[in-house]
Amino acid sequence: MMDDYNEKVIDNFRNPKNMGSMDNPDAEGEVGNPTCGDIMKVFLKIDNNIIKDIKVKTFGCVAAIATSSKMTELALGKTLEEAKDLTRDMVAKELGGLPAQKMHCSNLSVEALHKAIDNYQKKHMTKEHTTD
Ligand code: FES
Repeated sequence: MMDDYNEKVIDNFRNPKNMGSMDNPDAEGEVGNPTCGDIMKVFLKIDNNIIKDIKVKTFGCVAAIATSSKMTELALGKTLEEAKDLTRDMVAKELGGLPAQKMHCSNLSVEALHKAIDNYQKKHMTKEHTTD
């Protein structure tokens, strides 16, 4: 229910940033929540180890959309290492807190981000090995 959420969460839900997909992303990562069926997919453009652009496609509840949006704002412009250090707690804190029952359910977007970075780094490692 809407009344469980603070104003910041509602505001991020109403005006989410960086929503949608991306043409030719450098990396993608997806997480799904088996319990509630919400899905988040992250797309990244990476240049010189820095996240130059980020989009997130989220099918989910108010908290899933608010946390996805906030995650993109925190990740944009960061190096891959800095982005890997982002945590669920940082996202929740930036939103002024989440209802306890939503904390573990909805706050998955950092994991999608970390997956995208892992995929990117794996791809680049294999490329480096095969081009020699
Ligand atoms: Fe939204 Fe679970 S109900 S993430």
